[in-house]
Amino acid sequence: MCGLIGYCGEEPAAPLLVKALQHLEYRGYDSAGIATIADGRVQLKKDVGKLGEVRQKHQLDDLPGTIGVGHVRWATHGGVTQANAHPHTDCTKKVAVVHNGIIQNHRELRSRLEAKHAFVSETDTEVIPHLLEEHLTTSNSLEQAVLKTTRELEGSYALVIMSSQEPEKLVATCKDNPLVVGKSRKGNFIASDDLAFPESVTQIAFMEDDETAVVVKDNISFFTNDGHRIEKKFIEPSWNSGEVSKQNYPHFMLKEIMENSQSIRGAMVQDKKLITHMAMDILRAKQIIFTACGTSRYAALVGRYLFSKLAGKFSDVIISSEFHYFSDSIDKNTLVIALSQSGETADVMDGAKLAKKKGAKIFSLVNRNNSSLARMSDRVLYLNCGAEIGVAATKSFSSQLTLLYMLAFAMSNRLDEGLEKLNEVSIMVEKNFSKNGKNIEELAWRTKDKNDFYYIARGINFAIASEGALKLKEVSYAHAEGMPAGELKHGTLALIEEGVPVIAICPSDHTLKETLSNIEETRARGAFIVGISDQYNPIFHEWIEIPSIEYIYYPLLTIVPLQLLAYHSAIARGKDPDKPRNLAKSVTVK
Ligand code: G6P
Repeated sequence: MCGLIGYCGEEPAAPLLVKALQHLEYRGYDSAGIATIADGRVQLKKDVGKLGEVRQKHQLDDLPGTIGVGHVRWATHGGVTQANAHPHTDCTKKVAVVHNGIIQNHRELRSRLEAKHAFVSETDTEVIPHLLEEHLTTSNSLEQAVLKTTRELEGSYALVIMSSQEPEKLVATCKDNPLVVGKSRKGNFIASDDLAFPESVTQIAFMEDDETAVVVKDNISFFTNDGHRIEKKFIEPSWNSGEVSKQNYPHFMLKEIMENSQSIRGAMVQDKKLITHMAMDILRAKQIIFTACGTSRYAALVGRYLFSKLAGKFSDVIISSEFHYFSDSIDKNTLVIALSQSGETADVMDGAKLAKKKGAKIFSLVNRNNSSLARMSDRVLYLNCGAEIGVAATKSFSSQLTLLYMLAFAMSNRLDEGLEKLNEVSIMVEKNFSKNGKNIEELAWRTKDKNDFYYIARGINFAIASEGALKLKEVSYAHAEGMPAGELKHGTLALIEEGVPVIAICPSDHTLKETLSNIEETRARGAFIVGISDQYNPIFHEWIEIPSIEYIYYPLLTIVPLQLLAYHSAIARGKDPDKPRNLAKSVTVK
């Protein structure tokens, strides 16, 4: 969703900016660019394509200068063209701006500015350098011009700005989009995510909405939006780019799938007192609402099931982008549980902020330490699964499920028993990898020309069917739908014809008999049946075996072959599973 980086220090900026952008590419990868200041002017290179392509084509590392800004783009306003790539400049080419977010009033601003300024792109962003150009004529400093500019902006933004008139500084500011500053001995950084920082960064500070940072070689100062100086607390970075490597795997997605069992164990490392307190609050709340997007929402659906099954507590799940439309029912008796791997998803943040405003309590389940969601929540549980780089979430899903099991067990006063069981499950997940690998890869190649897949399941596995379908869509671009098996006959059955793959998640639990009847209905219409089960059934054309376990734990076992099927399907179809087209890992626009 656009990644920003800025550096100001003693070292050549360009190679540092490029390296940082490599770690931000999960936020966007349709265009890339960097700008530096050298010889008294802004030097800029940008183009469409993944960072590696732009880097090679334009020799990005060779731009001179020890100060600069960089950007990887995920297009919102304006197509994927060189002119729309960032950084953007003003008419005089003295100012360079990188932006993440959306300027809602860009049309009004553009029509006012167009009389005097030559616009070269279709982006909402370009109004910013032109506004700065105007305000710089009446300001004492770049930061003052930035403050005047942001007063005119409506919408969301994280901005890193530099000017050849004041070549010693970067100015950064944000609203509803993340920014973090980092200090190193040889210069200072500002980025969308601390993952971008090199290991030399030893102290970081997260920026809050409407704060402005002035970053110079050996100092970082912060201001409120009315220009008052503020002090911010610096902390140690929780992880850095050194940790993020594919090791010996061809893709991050495969590596991260293989880390599922580890993720279960990582999530189990929690303060039991905190879990118990949270469980008590959940039990006491009059109304529990989960909110999340994408994969995190499917985890929430499993949570809803577990709360009901293990603790008899009803809850609901509202997709974050729809949360606002239910605001009338939210009050101080509501407890909102927000799930987000990144902790930065704009829709989730928006829902959580609204709920907070209405007096609700916010609990969150987040992977990224100190992310915006974590910072605004009343209580936070961290997933502890390390950096997840593949755009399609995999291991973080297992971590989210683990935390939801723990909360549900704590709600029924059985946390220790739950932890013991989760540990056993994590071992089973690990053992099962080797068993099914080849089988699933072959299945992916066998179905590589199929364009419609239906994933069905009942009970606790229904959410897994939906998540399995989402994985396949995200990385292989095949159309896939996940649904409760019983719902098929109410419409979707009309789409089943000869050879259409139906992936049935049907472990031998109390739902098996009925799910088998639904599978039968699709097989009678010619469907190609893939059964994910601990028990073979002759109705399957292909059987993906999983171990037997107490039924509530099946989601942790059934999700893994579905992630692998999606991964191998992407490979079989010649797609890059780590960077699927049109998507970004952290979606910071609404
Ligand atoms: C994006 C990603 C999805 C992810 C969703 C929610 O759409 O492409 O893979 O599930 O955001 O992300 P979050 O960080 O909030 O869990």
